[in-house]
Amino acid sequence: MNAIMATIQSQPGKMIEPFAGFGLGLRREHYADFLEGEVDVDFVEVISENYMVEGGKPLRILEQARSKHPVILHGVSMSIGSAHGLDQAYLKKLKTLADRIEPLWVSDHLCWTRTSAHNSHDLLPLPLTQEVLDVVCDNISMAQDTIGRAMLFENPSSYLAFPDDELTEWEFLSEMTRRTGCYLLLDVNNVYVSAQNHSFSAQDYLNGLPLDRVRQIHLAGHDPATPERNLIIDTHDREVCEAVWDLYAKALAKLPQPVATMIERDDKIPPLPELLQELDRARALGERCCESALV
Ligand SMILES: [Fe+2]
Repeated sequence: MNAIMATIQSQPGKMIEPFAGFGLGLRREHYADFLEGEVDVDFVEVISENYMVEGGKPLRILEQARSKHPVILHGVSMSIGSAHGLDQAYLKKLKTLADRIEPLWVSDHLCWTRTSAHNSHDLLPLPLTQEVLDVVCDNISMAQDTIGRAMLFENPSSYLAFPDDELTEWEFLSEMTRRTGCYLLLDVNNVYVSAQNHSFSAQDYLNGLPLDRVRQIHLAGHDPATPERNLIIDTHDREVCEAVWDLYAKALAKLPQPVATMIERDDKIPPLPELLQELDRARALGERCCESALV
């Protein structure tokens, strides 16, 4: 248990729950580090779909990891925006995995990924309309009922907006949490990327979110815009940039509770010490904010 978790738990009058600390995504390149050594993280996050299997090596690895650290199940294929509803077989597999692993929580993304016949394996953007909000809320309620847990949903990074949009993304997320009781996974890099690509204020985005519903933060890197390409691309393949660290600090200052934070690297995975160094920076910023909140 790190210092700030002990501080929070030792002050019952100011108990701030839940707070899971600071973690990393568990990636294949680091299996040996996590399973054979001791890694200073409070939790690991895994991609749910990699472990939604009957048995075999992936599950053995996940159970080994779970014996050492709390686990978060982070999905990429629920397709919560699908107009034809959710894949019941997928939900059952996810429930089986969650019952087996007992994760801190289960999360996915505000997006759509598939039709009934085809899975794009991409996190595709949704029109931000009342009609889509109804679909998303119905699907979230079904998902939460089926797996028997409240879920977290992550704000996407986006590159296009629809002419029919009726709500800002923060208005959409606010209404979604209010109607379904779900929580938010705030990807600070995604806020930055979308704000730059759509020319809105990242500060307005944070101001408009129901921050009391945020239970986890992702920090990641992106590919900056170039003279030929006036878009930032959410690549998750490099270190967190200074502008995203600044936005993280601003988010921490506004959050009414400490929030679990992790460094999310999905490509060009570096040696583990490099990610732990970034996590130390997040921890230092987070602990500073928590301490001032507890004064
Ligand atoms: Fe993320």
